[in-house]
Amino acid sequence: MPDTTETLDPAAAPFSTRMREATAREHEEAENSTFIGEMLDGSLGIESFRCYTGQLWYIYRALEAHSAALAADPVAGPFIKPELARTAELERDLIHLAGPGWRDGLTPLPATAAYAARIEECAQGWPGGYIAHHYTRYLGDLSGGQVIRGNAEKLWDLPHRGDGVRFYVFEQIGNPAAFKREYRALLDRIDVDELEQRRILDEGKRAFVLNRALFTELGAEFPTRRHS
Ligand code: HEM
Repeated sequence: MPDTTETLDPAAAPFSTRMREATAREHEEAENSTFIGEMLDGSLGIESFRCYTGQLWYIYRALEAHSAALAADPVAGPFIKPELARTAELERDLIHLAGPGWRDGLTPLPATAAYAARIEECAQGWPGGYIAHHYTRYLGDLSGGQVIRGNAEKLWDLPHRGDGVRFYVFEQIGNPAAFKREYRALLDRIDVDELEQRRILDEGKRAFVLNRALFTELGAEFPTRRHS
């Protein structure tokens, strides 16, 4: 059943607020996922971080493969910003974490494949849905991603803002808080009708669910004390 709680009076809240509120519960669940918690407290070792980074590569490749076409789209176009692109950074991190042959040993988990396929589908056929995925990843990376970077650097002695954690470093974004404000302003100006806005909010929730499914599968790859 569609969630209509936040849309009774569509004019009441800006779209960026509706998006944050529509995904707030899902965000909390993602943040509290066992895998993320155990990766970030060091229980799982650097292997978990390597694996997580490898899975992210598939997701960002899907997010960024169609950037050129999306840049020309009236709805998605304003969100396509080269300073957000992460694929090259992930590749540098993976060389550091897994060696120059990183690509040979990498396969997508089923949840990763499903997530990337959904992004591709949106990127190629539904610009509004693509924005939901864009928001979920990039705004998250600019926010909680910084917690992940700090922990990873300390736990595994990775160079500060260097190879291994470049994914979390947005070299061309000097002021992340200001960037996020501008990003939210773009969301607020999105030029689609109320029905389409609701569909985008639902896709935002779906994006979080896809992330959670990935964490669940990653958790199964790294069984720890909770299974022993
Ligand atoms: C270690 C886990 C995480 C932590 C500690 C964390 C923390 C945070 C914090 C503190 C903010 C607020 C930043 C601000 O107001 O500027 C935030 C926002 C956000 N996070 Fe996370 N997060 C985590 C995981 C995730 C995950 C897994 C996703 C999705 C894949 C995600 C997506 C987002 C999004 C989209 C926002 C922006 C919300 C908005 O203002 O519209 N986060 N996160």
